[in-house]
Amino acid sequence: MLGRLNHVAIAVPDLEAAAGVYRDTLGATVSQRQDLPAHGVSVVFVKLPNTKIELLEPFGADSPIEKFLERNPGGGIHHICYEVGDIAYARDRLVEDGARVLGSGEPMIGAHGKPVLFLHPKDFLGTLIELEEV
Ligand code: CO
Repeated sequence: MLGRLNHVAIAVPDLEAAAGVYRDTLGATVSQRQDLPAHGVSVVFVKLPNTKIELLEPFGADSPIEKFLERNPGGGIHHICYEVGDIAYARDRLVEDGARVLGSGEPMIGAHGKPVLFLHPKDFLGTLIELEEV
């Protein structure tokens, strides 16, 4: 069911500073900042030859990453995103197996314009998993 690793997401308190670490210190290609009000985050993508790193900063009030940053004030790995061919099939199969999908359970359009879902970290080894249909 799982395809490629699409990205690893790191929540950060300061997106410009974090983008600078990847661009200037690590010498990576870093995208323009995107604000995603529907997701409560601003993002920058670091393009690597085999995957991406997503840097996330809270956007607006009640951002879903605010609590995470309270616990990890310097930032930290927030989620891992895997690609799936059919997100509705993947969700139905996982829910049948007892896994919990966050939010309404319906896919939302993610940062790449594709449907995404998040799976509860307690069901997946303490890791928040994002599924993205490609
Ligand atoms: Co993501």
